[in-house]
Amino acid sequence: METSEDIRTTPRGFYCKLCSIHTPNRPSLEAHLKGKKHQHLCRLRSKRDAQVESSIYVSGIKPTTSRTELAEYFEQFGPVSEIIMDKDKGLYSIIEFSEVKSTQAVLTQLEHRLQGLKLRVKPREKKEFKLASKPPDAKKSHINLEKLNYDLCQTASVNEQMQKVVETLQLSESDQNSRELLAELLEEVFTEFLPDCQIIPFGSSVNTFGVQSCDLDLVLDLENTKAFQSQAKKSEKKGEHNSEDGDSEDSILPEIDLNTATPAELLDLVTAVLRKCVPGVYKVQPQKTTRLPLVRFIHRDLNLQGDITINNRLAVRNTRFLQLCSGLDSRVRPLVYTVRFWAKQKHLAGNPFGGGPLLNNYALTLLVLFYLQNVDPPILPTVEKLKSMACEEEECVIDGWDCTFPSQPISVPPSKNTDDLCTLLHGFFSFYSKFDFSGSVVSLREGRSLPIASFLSRDEEMPDTADSSSSKHKKAAGPKLGPVNILDPFNLHHNVAGNLSERTHRHLLRECSESEKYCRSLQYQRKSAKGKSWGLVRLFAPRVEGGAGSQGGTERSLKISVPFQASVLPESLNKKLSSSGDAFRLIWFEQLCSAVEALFKDILKCTPAEEPVSTQEQNKTGGGEEEVNNNDSLEGSSKQAASKPGKKRPLPAEESSSSSSSKGKRRRLDSSANLPEKACWFWAQRHKVWAGRRKVRRDLLKTSDEASKPEGGCRSIESRVTQCIVEKEEDPKDLVEFKVDAEVLGGGENTKAVLKFTPTNDLAGYFQDFFHFLESFLPKMVETLLSKPE
Ligand code: UTP
Repeated sequence: METSEDIRTTPRGFYCKLCSIHTPNRPSLEAHLKGKKHQHLCRLRSKRDAQVESSIYVSGIKPTTSRTELAEYFEQFGPVSEIIMDKDKGLYSIIEFSEVKSTQAVLTQLEHRLQGLKLRVKPREKKEFKLASKPPDAKKSHINLEKLNYDLCQTASVNEQMQKVVETLQLSESDQNSRELLAELLEEVFTEFLPDCQIIPFGSSVNTFGVQSCDLDLVLDLENTKAFQSQAKKSEKKGEHNSEDGDSEDSILPEIDLNTATPAELLDLVTAVLRKCVPGVYKVQPQKTTRLPLVRFIHRDLNLQGDITINNRLAVRNTRFLQLCSGLDSRVRPLVYTVRFWAKQKHLAGNPFGGGPLLNNYALTLLVLFYLQNVDPPILPTVEKLKSMACEEEECVIDGWDCTFPSQPISVPPSKNTDDLCTLLHGFFSFYSKFDFSGSVVSLREGRSLPIASFLSRDEEMPDTADSSSSKHKKAAGPKLGPVNILDPFNLHHNVAGNLSERTHRHLLRECSESEKYCRSLQYQRKSAKGKSWGLVRLFAPRVEGGAGSQGGTERSLKISVPFQASVLPESLNKKLSSSGDAFRLIWFEQLCSAVEALFKDILKCTPAEEPVSTQEQNKTGGGEEEVNNNDSLEGSSKQAASKPGKKRPLPAEESSSSSSSKGKRRRLDSSANLPEKACWFWAQRHKVWAGRRKVRRDLLKTSDEASKPEGGCRSIESRVTQCIVEKEEDPKDLVEFKVDAEVLGGGENTKAVLKFTPTNDLAGYFQDFFHFLESFLPKMVETLLSKPE
């Protein structure tokens, strides 16, 4: 493939200068070049080039010269399609003609005069085509990392370093003032049109965790305006007239009924007011498809990005909650700032403009608060406890959700915990590196993780949240479950991490675990006497793609994990799991084992293999990892299965539990469930079912009516792909034989099944290729089989 001028090779693959996009390899680069974005920008660039060629640059005009006067003069050379005036002083202008030949006509004329002045005319300068510069990125604080690192190294302890982080990152007083002023200005303008409305800041500008250049989140609260409008309507009916009712000529109130207006109509209204009436505001963009529709804008002089949502009272209230938590203990702020900065450096948080697969800062902050509810003794009380400390005037219910908590920290007794910041940060990583995100739901309301099983069946009642006022929600749909589940402390049907991808989840666990390991080292705990970087500096080192901790290491173990993902399971299975308490993991594992067996046997056409003598010997002498008990079965058919090759050999629950507990690492998944936590198979693969698989698949799909599905997304297609490969192979022989040990983990760590692969016969050396293929194929295929069992 020819590399165009737009493409640069980089150590990490390729970089498309036109689209500012990195791609890791050639196939993804090719896909990008054929993709919509690249094609669109290519067309746009050609259009711009054509525009430049048909334009001229004119200077020497009077500041008072109008467009019409310029158009009248230049139209003698050909039709003019556009005139761009220098906005500030009107000293130059760009005249764009409909045809290129008009430009040549202008440029060949020696002299041009307008209003007695001699005009200077030259070809329009050709600038490199670039994507429009992005609006100020709220997530990118303009922090000089080198300076921060230097400052951190100068401090005496990690505790001081964490205080320094706050000092460096926090919003300055002047920044805070200008945010307040902008909110006031906006309220003033909006009140002209929507009497009694309020503009209320929420989020990081006011929650005490804001960083320089974070965005300004605002709520337009129309409750009072609604009341005003109803009153005005009543008076109108009675024939009264009050000039202050807001139905003056300027008022838009009579045209829109706030009680019945749709969110889209309200957004259009906000957009119109922002565009037409607020000075210094530009790039006003309504976002109608986000979870909460909003209008985004930029304020030019303050270089600030703002978002306005409408009637979002829960966000204002949860901001007050964050403020309260911050005021309850002086360790909260440094810890939140440090974790937020760490997460940003590791690419775990900070979705550009809200959407995306990473953690948002709100979710991340809740993770810190939840951890502080779980340290011993707790530093923060649970939300339920806070509720009990509030007085009657502080009772607050929004949209049916109980949002009661004390307004002042003074109402809450101080914590008895004396851990310092250094210890708490280490504890944070330790807590989350072992956290079972897949198998539980983080509840700040109760200050503990709730078993995910209780959330699996949507039409069942929600778990008892001790929240009487939210009973009207209990029958409604629950939170959207995903790889990470963090319940909003008030809206108990909202998973604030519902946007997270499985990849981010894995990445979060990995980074927590790496950081936890680092926190155990002396480099973290003690200042370097030799002036080397220490403490937070190393913790903040940006994440290196493919570096240590990513799965590209040379000593890769032959394991494939399949995380528990409730959202892909059929409703019937979720119902069964929801009624089985902690045993849900074992029931899921049972289904997973059936899917794994179907994958090897039916889809990849593996054949059962004999158990090699070496492992039999190991088992007899007790050297193997597990023993076979033929009396226990997963399917009732494995009485013989244990001795038969290619069949799974389940292990009894007690045995497997004792084997794991003997290592002192894991607790039993459910002592009451008589289901195994482990299984094992022996398979032989005679065909190179991985080689050229994508092409065979593409060819197959071309000649069939079936809709295209991603690799591993359809059982029948994948079986046929394997069949095609098998039929084409002329001389099949036993390429590889291998053992698969499966076990389910969870509770004290992330709920997942881990499949360990051991080649038992690999004379031709094909196993690595086969395993490499399985790494991406198996999790996706198992997910498909679990979601659509036969
Ligand atoms: P952000 O995630 O943007 O947090 O949510 P932030 O603290 O403002 O951080 P920046 O802006 O990234 O620096 C902003 C606010 O939106 C509400 C919360 O009130 C939060 O403080 N929010 C966000 C929710 O209510 N639910 C969500 O799921 C996310």
